[in-house]
Amino acid sequence: VLAYLNGQYQPRSGATISVEDRGFVFGDGVYEVWRIVNGTLFETERHLARLASGLNELRIPAPDIVHPDVLNSVAKRLVAESGLLDGEATLYLEVTRGVAPRTHQFPSKPTNPTVYATVNRFSPPEELRAKGAACITIPDLRWLRCDIKTIQLLPNVLAKQAAVERGALDAIMIRDGVATEGSHANVFAVIDGVLRTHPTNHLILAGITRAVVLELAANAGIRAVEEPVTEAELASADELFLAGTTTDVMPIVRLNDAVIASGQPGPITTRLVREFRVCLDVACGVVSTTT
Ligand code: PDD
Repeated sequence: VLAYLNGQYQPRSGATISVEDRGFVFGDGVYEVWRIVNGTLFETERHLARLASGLNELRIPAPDIVHPDVLNSVAKRLVAESGLLDGEATLYLEVTRGVAPRTHQFPSKPTNPTVYATVNRFSPPEELRAKGAACITIPDLRWLRCDIKTIQLLPNVLAKQAAVERGALDAIMIRDGVATEGSHANVFAVIDGVLRTHPTNHLILAGITRAVVLELAANAGIRAVEEPVTEAELASADELFLAGTTTDVMPIVRLNDAVIASGQPGPITTRLVREFRVCLDVACGVVSTTT
């Protein structure tokens, strides 16, 4: 598998960064993950816009790769030379403030941001999706700028690890009695026929998959509101699902070992799983809109 690091292409196994990289020392950076189908990135621009906004929040100058043409050409070469032109893959892109002696404040001399990108094979979790996944709930221990997609992911790492240790797919984080999001995906509930998900503010990441799902719901005539779901409502919801680039749309049928509704993926979730697949395939040129 190939990696792109500061303008150079090289085998990922040999790619190295400085121990003084502020990403390594402080988690001073941001990242993005794209879904790729047959070599084409899904939602290039929306992910780039979120990356640009994160860089702006952290006052890291935007490198060239934040331009769609540059990103697409880097992605093409990574995908082609990693043998991932066919089928599904993901692109990981990370930008840090760069290399400088360790001081908490920004380096006094401007640094070049470190830019790292790589690709991985992705297999949509079809089997699990057919029966639905289990989740646990866990306190949301994160800071108050969860809208910035920083590489500081320790609370997310610990939440996911707790889920795995309990045989669950993911952990839904609870802050002040409401579900914010999963460790790396947004959370949706269906309650009395209405799709509900946490509003986009500083408490969650504004997921691209979340945005696409809301658009698909609107097109399908499914009513949706961006309002918090309480912990109690989560447990008694008619349907629950996660949505994220590497999670896809994933029905949740068990929460903290209790069954959600019938214990089967519900009709609205199943419909959105289908709609999302079509949307992905059309956007990535796998099928045309007329077929
Ligand atoms: N995570 N919430 C959090 C905390 C996330 O980390 C992610 C994505 C999402 C979903 O966003 P999107 O639909 O744009 O992927 C929500 C990526 C995939 C990751 O960390 O691997």
